[in-house]
Amino acid sequence: MSRALVIAIDGPAGTGKSTVARGLATALGASYLDTGAMYRIVTLAALRRGVDLTDAEAIAGAVADVELAVGHDPGEDRSFLAEEDVSTEIRGDAVTKAVSAVSAVPAVRTRLVELQRALAGGTDDVVVEGRDIGTVVLPDADVKIFLTASAEERARRRNDQNVASGLPDDYDAVLADVKRRDHLDSTRPVSPLRAADDAAVVDTSDMTQSEVIAFLTDLVERTAQMGDERAREEQRAER
Ligand code: DC
Repeated sequence: MSRALVIAIDGPAGTGKSTVARGLATALGASYLDTGAMYRIVTLAALRRGVDLTDAEAIAGAVADVELAVGHDPGEDRSFLAEEDVSTEIRGDAVTKAVSAVSAVPAVRTRLVELQRALAGGTDDVVVEGRDIGTVVLPDADVKIFLTASAEERARRRNDQNVASGLPDDYDAVLADVKRRDHLDSTRPVSPLRAADDAAVVDTSDMTQSEVIAFLTDLVERTAQMGDERAREEQRAER
């Protein structure tokens, strides 16, 4: 019998990562873990406690005992702070602005990484999405995927989303922000954003999300088959 497959998906914002990770989990009948949501929940907790976001020690203290939970269903993943459903609030502006500061605190990362490993360690196949999954959280994942897209394409997608939600059309400002965040994310001392050496790097600039999902589903299925064949060969060799 095949053992559970662990699939790590990393990459910057604007690559379609969340939609693709959910689509892949659905196609594979796997569960889904959104680690960004976990950073967002602890950020909301820190904001509600009125913590000074320039004070790493205060952030670490405030989030030490936060009770958080995230759903596993790729079709309907919910996020909870204690018993409260905060799925919508964690996507709001306040949390989005503050989450970089909170996720840069080493004590926050240590606690969440531990939790992520426990959640990914079940008996189901699982797709785990984040920034440091293949490099730090699950370096032994069966399949590692790093999604990229050009800064220009990511800025275009984000600007389109902004316009659709009633915000001003300002491609140049969005592009400058995308480049600024890329620089911050890839140069930060703790868990910088980078592809694991053994990750499949997929540039989504010229692909639709359905094309990316189909490509990755095929990649995962081929990897799983290879793993099954290897396991059978090892069993034969042992006999
Ligand atoms: O993917 P997202 O936008 O929901 O992530 C929210 C923030 O959390 C983002 O600033 C990056 C950070 N993050 C992280 O540092 N490590 C992860 N594994 C996932 C997200």
